[in-house]
Amino acid sequence: MTSIIIAVDGTAASGKGTLAKKLARHFNFAHLDSGSLYRLVALGVMEAHGDPAKEADALAVARAIDPARGDDPAIRTAEVGNVASIVSAIPSVRAALLQFQRAFAATPPNSLAGAVIDGRDIGTVVCPQATAKLFVDARPEIRAHRRWLELNQAGAAPAEAAILAEIVARDARDRSRAIAPLKPAPDARLLDTSDLDIDAAFAAALALVKPGVENALKARQGG
Ligand code: CDP
Repeated sequence: MTSIIIAVDGTAASGKGTLAKKLARHFNFAHLDSGSLYRLVALGVMEAHGDPAKEADALAVARAIDPARGDDPAIRTAEVGNVASIVSAIPSVRAALLQFQRAFAATPPNSLAGAVIDGRDIGTVVCPQATAKLFVDARPEIRAHRRWLELNQAGAAPAEAAILAEIVARDARDRSRAIAPLKPAPDARLLDTSDLDIDAAFAAALALVKPGVENALKARQGG
């Protein structure tokens, strides 16, 4: 039976991960943070003292990552995020990770009916046939502040201005790359979370995806 997919793409620190997790919980779907795969490749290249811009170095790691390590706090640093954005511009690295993402979408773990996948190219490349697509964004200063709070809670204390510069540079790199650039799918619903707290953003996201997802669930149940 075809699984139901919610694609949640968006800019760095826009809140797409939090929304994706909450949507997955709401519908009892699986959740995949595709950014964690690119971050794992980045960390692997850094640990091996490789060059992230060199295809051979990045590809060797991409072929060997363990996607189950996606909750390793070591991948959440700003440096790993930057390196992730370098390795993610290499076509063969993306191809190596595509298979895992598509398999997750086609057969979500634990026989769940659907999956919520967040990233940059889920609605455009990984799952263009997704049941529902969101593109999440917020003003850069707001995203930088949220990421600063997150990193602070995790015990790191980078300057907020440095985080803002990093986020803006990473978005620019992600938007301008030749392969799978960061951009909304033509059929994505846009959600700006700048002036919304988590609960309000979730309510807005749910309102946008609910009709499509509920129709698909009904169709699966044959009614
Ligand atoms: O959490 P945050 O928004 O900071 O970033 P992330 O989703 O963990 O992604 C880190 C980096 O991985 C991004 O800046 C992209 O360069 C890359 N990425 C990608 O190219 N395609 C995806 N589907 C997900 C992430």
